[in-house]
Amino acid sequence: MGVEIKGSPVSDPEFEEMKEFVHEYLTASVQNEDGGGRMRWYPWHSADYRYNHILNVVDLAETIASREGADVDVARVAALFHDIAKLDADQEVHAEEGARVAREYLESHGDFPESFIDEVCKSIEDHSYQGDISSLSKETRCLIEADMLDKVGANGTALMLLRMGYEARTHMAAAEMVDRVLQRGKDAAARVESDTANDIAHRRLKRVKWFSEWLLDEVPEMDTEKTESPRRQGP
Ligand SMILES: [Fe+2]
Repeated sequence: MGVEIKGSPVSDPEFEEMKEFVHEYLTASVQNEDGGGRMRWYPWHSADYRYNHILNVVDLAETIASREGADVDVARVAALFHDIAKLDADQEVHAEEGARVAREYLESHGDFPESFIDEVCKSIEDHSYQGDISSLSKETRCLIEADMLDKVGANGTALMLLRMGYEARTHMAAAEMVDRVLQRGKDAAARVESDTANDIAHRRLKRVKWFSEWLLDEVPEMDTEKTESPRRQGP
């Protein structure tokens, strides 16, 4: 068994420059929009949320890749660009569009090996794959696992509670909504392949479980089953 050590094709200043590009691209996507239909008032449709999610995914992908012996540079650059087109392309094509933007950037900045660019773009293109991830490259698996893990755990719970406010739900719906995060965490734990992602998924799942138990303990009237129809608020 051995981990292949490769010379890093991406320096720290180059990575910082990429981060800046991604942040600016997301901000411009929101500004250029003609105002219609995307529910920008939803926090996760904002450039700031999306960029923060991307940074979390970069961090998780780096951790998983380094522990699992995947190419850390491919995983972190793919993670950085994976949702770049999320705010200006339709959901169904945002992965392909993101790969296109990444390729354009990587081919016109620095001197990155073609094989590196191909691997990064392939991972971005495949990151919204919904099937069994065991057939994908190690780096793509790291990205998909990292992407799933950012939506579960304490951060996933915070976002879900925030969403309740935007949907004008009362706090009595909290147990039901947290239960959805718990379910999402269980789905993520069942889908991840690597030991590292599995460990992180279970650690995060435990946090949501605790929160849910504390909530039900403190508010006996609360129910995980109760469904309330949301009243959506406009911007
Ligand atoms: Fe994502």
